[in-house]
Amino acid sequence: MKAMVGAPSSAGRAAVPLLLCAMLAPGGTYVLDDSDGLGREFDGIGALSGGGATSRLLVNYPEPYRSEILDYLFKPNFGASLHILKVEIGGDGQTTDGTEPSHMHYALDEDYFRGYEWWLMKEAKKRNPNITLMGLPWSFPGWLGKGFNWPYVNLQLTAYYIISWIVGAKHYHNLDIDYVGIWNERTFDINYIKMLRKMLNNQGLQQVKIIASDNLWEPISASMLLDPELLKAIDVIGAHYPGTCTVMDATLTGKKLWSSEDFSTFNNALGAGCWGRILNQNYINGYMTSTIAWNLVASYYQQLPYGRSGLMTAQEPWSGHYVVESPIWISAHTTQFTQPGWYYLKTVGHLEKGGSYVALTDGLGNLTIIVETMSHKHSKCIRPFLPYFNVSQQFATFFLKGSFSQITELQVWYTKLGKMSAKFLFKQLAPLRVNSSGSFTLELHEDELFTLTTLTTGRKGNHRLPPESQPFPARYEDDFNIHYPPFSEAPNFADQTGVFEYFINTEDSGDHHFTLRQVLNQRPITWAADASNTISIIGDYKWTNLTITCDVYIETPEKGGVFIAGRVNKGGIFIRSAEGVFFWLFANGRYRVTSDLAGWSVYDLGHVDVTAKKWYTLTLIIKGHFSSGMLNGKLLWENVSVSFPKNGWAAIGTYSFDFAQFDNFHVDATL
Ligand SMILES: *[C@@H]1O[C@H](CO)[C@@H](O)[C@H](O)[C@H]1NC(C)=O
Ligand SMILES: *[C@@H]1O[C@H](CO)[C@@H](O)[C@H](O)[C@H]1NC(C)=O
Ligand SMILES: *[C@@H]1O[C@H](CO)[C@@H](O)[C@H](O)[C@H]1NC(C)=O
Ligand SMILES: *[C@@H]1O[C@H](CO)[C@@H](O)[C@H](O)[C@H]1NC(C)=O
Ligand SMILES: *[C@@H]1O[C@H](CO)[C@@H](O)[C@H](O)[C@H]1NC(C)=O
Repeated sequence: MKAMVGAPSSAGRAAVPLLLCAMLAPGGTYVLDDSDGLGREFDGIGALSGGGATSRLLVNYPEPYRSEILDYLFKPNFGASLHILKVEIGGDGQTTDGTEPSHMHYALDEDYFRGYEWWLMKEAKKRNPNITLMGLPWSFPGWLGKGFNWPYVNLQLTAYYIISWIVGAKHYHNLDIDYVGIWNERTFDINYIKMLRKMLNNQGLQQVKIIASDNLWEPISASMLLDPELLKAIDVIGAHYPGTCTVMDATLTGKKLWSSEDFSTFNNALGAGCWGRILNQNYINGYMTSTIAWNLVASYYQQLPYGRSGLMTAQEPWSGHYVVESPIWISAHTTQFTQPGWYYLKTVGHLEKGGSYVALTDGLGNLTIIVETMSHKHSKCIRPFLPYFNVSQQFATFFLKGSFSQITELQVWYTKLGKMSAKFLFKQLAPLRVNSSGSFTLELHEDELFTLTTLTTGRKGNHRLPPESQPFPARYEDDFNIHYPPFSEAPNFADQTGVFEYFINTEDSGDHHFTLRQVLNQRPITWAADASNTISIIGDYKWTNLTITCDVYIETPEKGGVFIAGRVNKGGIFIRSAEGVFFWLFANGRYRVTSDLAGWSVYDLGHVDVTAKKWYTLTLIIKGHFSSGMLNGKLLWENVSVSFPKNGWAAIGTYSFDFAQFDNFHVDATL
């Protein structure tokens, strides 16, 4: 996801890159022909889990719903049938909608079972063994920076860290990573890219391709043209939100061009229209042979930044409810009738009265044509879109020539989007007869998508309806007593700074043997403006009146501190400025009540008999305009006046990047 903080520093960027947008001016007839050779090789349509924590709630879904969601995303000839899964290489930092854990929290630490991306990649492979896998870091664990907020302090160490993730994927999960990236939407270091290539080769990982720089087309393209070794090290130039255009330098490199992050749009019919348009026009206008959506599935609390910007929505593991949104079926129009390794025809372009067409072939005589007429009225992308055509009703006549002149019949799949919802989604129509002159005519209206193909394998997959939508349970508790946790994180907790993991406290064989622990001991190399404190949110954003109880254990004497909170009103990249009611307890014997996470605005404070390495029970009561707090069941502060914010999530956290444990978490919001 595009950061809203910290502009990417692009040292040496060319003043104004020359935008290159192929704008063919067609008549009402369109020739599809391979006799003059083929266009570029197609590399697939994909989606991104991460950047960050966008699949957080998915892993907690009960079966069979979880498997059904995965079917709609990955199963061939079923739903989105994605060709590519790109995941975040968790780096412990906040990366848009949460943090994802690193496989190396500390210098001598290695664990390839944290988080859910390993699991997700395996589920994708299970359904489609041919799916392409990609990894890209956003943030990095703090130790790699040796005190600097910078991953290029020791190039070899950072390359070792990334390669360990690739080797771990193979060793522990039998996952072959096909592509690795550099640093999402941040500056690149030429020597690091060369080092990464060299060390990959030395590890016998020549087949792992490098994509760079997951930012703008420049300065990476110009750098490659000036440096033959860099040019050789990079296999694919990946640009983000390219608005379907590329630049001259990028084409001059002769490399594959990808839109390696795109879409990022609310997933209703408007978002679907955006997706349909860019899937065609990224190739037509900008020669891009792959487009990757941010994000795969909206499985994060909807009030976090860019809520519901996934191809589908699965944000209620407590109810099992999910929604197969229209972008799933827009994807199917391309993915089910093409494969990586197919080729675009040279004969692609814009339609006379708005819209566009592409055609692809497997080189064995199969042909897939995708025609879109998405209007700008109804199909808005979050990013500006440069080529601008109004769409009106038109007749488009296609002539099949070359290898395709013998085709007599095409299967037809059809979508019609409306202003608010879709009228038809990926509906199979009667096959179309190609007339004896090798041509056929389509009547096109705005906001339509047609796939015309020789393949007969398309299918609109269908599971029975999922359960009804339900709010987060108003009474919720977790004692974290999971002996063999399938995931490192506790269900429904969404870490926003820091990492909270299941922990086995071997020193305590009693009630606090199994706990939840904040495990970072230093600030990561951040990608966003992470808070100075750690925090994990949970629950219903609409909660106003609630009582939260949690056992807490501060591990660090003197400076250590923990909190529980309610009505927390912000998360994701805005976590630093979160407000709410925060009840803090410190190892130095102080308590504090603040209206913000940063701790600027203090409602109440005082002394209390508290030390590190002892368990205490905190209770926070918020009702109407008043709040009170208890320590070990005894009232500590009473009827503090709280007026803003009026609602928000519950949360736990620590004062700084220090170890602390939590147990017997309990919320009651029924009052
Ligand atoms: C995977 O790719 C191979 C080779 O292209 C193909 O034969 C096979 O059918 C594909 N499998 C699936 C599940 O798509
Ligand atoms: C098209 O694809 C199918 C399935 O992959 C294959 O059997 C067939 O030979 C291909 N060629 C034509 C002309 O249909
Ligand atoms: C598209 O239509 C609108 C309204 O009819 C008009 O103002 C605009 O100039 C048109 N744009 C193009 C590029 O033709
Ligand atoms: C919260 O409690 C206050 C005070 O009792 C009450 O006035 C208000 O209606 C409650 N709000 C909700 C949403 O229940
Ligand atoms: C807070 O004030 C209300 C009404 O003034 C009172 O009933 C209540 O007992 C006080 N204390 C707590 C902990 O709510």
